[in-house]
Amino acid sequence: MDLGLKGARALVTGGSRGIGAAICQALAKEGAVIATCARGQEGLEAALADLRSLGATAYGQAVDVRDAAAFKNWVQSAADDMGGIDLVVSNVSTRIDPTSDAWWSDTFEADLMQHVRLRDACLPYLEKSDSAAMVFVASIASVMTTLPPHEEAYGAMKAGLVNLVGQWGSMMARKGIRVNAVSPGPVFFEGGWWDMVKTKDPDSYKRAAGMSAIGRLADPAEIANAVTFLASPRSSFTTGINLRIDGGLVKTANF
Ligand SMILES: NC(=O)c1ccc[n+]([C@@H]2O[C@H](COP(=O)([O-])OP(=O)(O)OC[C@H]3O[C@@H](n4cnc5c(N)ncnc54)[C@H](OP(=O)(O)O)[C@@H]3O)[C@@H](O)[C@H]2O)c1
Repeated sequence: MDLGLKGARALVTGGSRGIGAAICQALAKEGAVIATCARGQEGLEAALADLRSLGATAYGQAVDVRDAAAFKNWVQSAADDMGGIDLVVSNVSTRIDPTSDAWWSDTFEADLMQHVRLRDACLPYLEKSDSAAMVFVASIASVMTTLPPHEEAYGAMKAGLVNLVGQWGSMMARKGIRVNAVSPGPVFFEGGWWDMVKTKDPDSYKRAAGMSAIGRLADPAEIANAVTFLASPRSSFTTGINLRIDGGLVKTANF
């Protein structure tokens, strides 16, 4: 299926590794122009080189999404580079130390406010697009009530994000902007969180794999494919949804 993304101008946060890098690659393979960010320059440059080796036009800048002014400047310069913005994928989550006194307020900034700021900064560009879409990467942590203690704040913020996506879907539909979320279950990639768990606590890793009906963790490309579809005009009548991609881990019907 041609997803109709040739020449689409896509802004993706956190594209230097893992799910974000896979999203950039999936969009690039469909012919989209990419602008992405991460804090680490080295990882960013490697990811940009991978995208360019696919023949994609790709821009990148080191920026921390929690720095409101720098984040807004990056959105503006990415829009200038690409000549506008059609698609926004908000992928970043920053792990906050749960023992810190500022755990809750820092998680609020890292997992909720940065998405609000991104929506605000991109809105003027999306309003000018003929095929505008936003996709937010949430998590099944948003619906789980058996999270490990260190994910308590993260789960609450992801739940808030899923609610916002529903609200924004309604609010922006008549402006021609679709807004959706995807909620991955555990995703394995080299150098990622679950790679670390696999090495340090293999029993937890095996338990996580066994919790899904399919019996394994996801590959980043399996999340990226769904994001790419939701970002594309082929999902033109889909807005405000939260698509779980967890191999059947959450054991409830998804009404
Ligand atoms: N992996 C999973 O099992 C899983 C499961 C459910 C949901 N998710 C969600 O999926 C998304 C991606 O997860 P992931 O595991 O691929 O993430 P990750 O390994 O933590 O990578 C996140 C990306 O974002 C960048 N980043 C992190 N903090 C940033 C900041 N403050 N400012 C700018 N860039 C930042 C990272 O680069 P730098 O570190 O260089 O900044 C990297 O490019 C997150 O929203 C996460 O909550 C992941």
